[in-house]
Amino acid sequence: MEEVVKNIKEAINGESNAQRKYELFSKKALSEGLPQIAYLFKATAFAEGIHIRNHLKALATILGSEANPQEFVKIDEEKLKSLIKDTKSSLLDAIAGEMFEFKKMYKNFVKIADKAGEDVAELSFTLARYAERVHAKLYSTALKKLESNKPREIKEIYVCSICGNIELNEIPSKCPVCDHGPQFFKKIEMS
Ligand SMILES: [Fe+2]
Ligand SMILES: [Fe+2]
Repeated sequence: MEEVVKNIKEAINGESNAQRKYELFSKKALSEGLPQIAYLFKATAFAEGIHIRNHLKALATILGSEANPQEFVKIDEEKLKSLIKDTKSSLLDAIAGEMFEFKKMYKNFVKIADKAGEDVAELSFTLARYAERVHAKLYSTALKKLESNKPREIKEIYVCSICGNIELNEIPSKCPVCDHGPQFFKKIEMS
């Protein structure tokens, strides 16, 4: 149980940093005249907030009381600002972060939570893990389009409020990550 608690706190810290970083990347993309990439960063920042909420719930379930994230979330604003170069670098950084979470961090956390019999944490990690894979794919597509100078064709972005999955332009009949219905998707405003 102790290891699961430590992992949830680490995940909340990671998600909080990713969320702030994407907000900064979004502003940078806007300043470079890339509103669609700015929009994608904004929506993904919102999605990471859903992972934070789910992980906090899982933590409260294990501890039996609400945890105070300020005790274990450390956001170094200067360090995050030093990561901002141009939007291509932002996308590369974001893809690496999402892939690390999908392939290593959450994969490992899911296994440990499963072994410990901590079902709520296991579910929270699993949902975040598969949503991160979607985030990585969307960022990769955005990077390819940026490099080939093609427009992104993003009109609307919807985020699943259960798992943080992101869908472009259309709401699916059910979320491919968590199976919840279309009513759980929230439209993110462009600015
Ligand atoms: Fe993500
Ligand atoms: Fe979902």
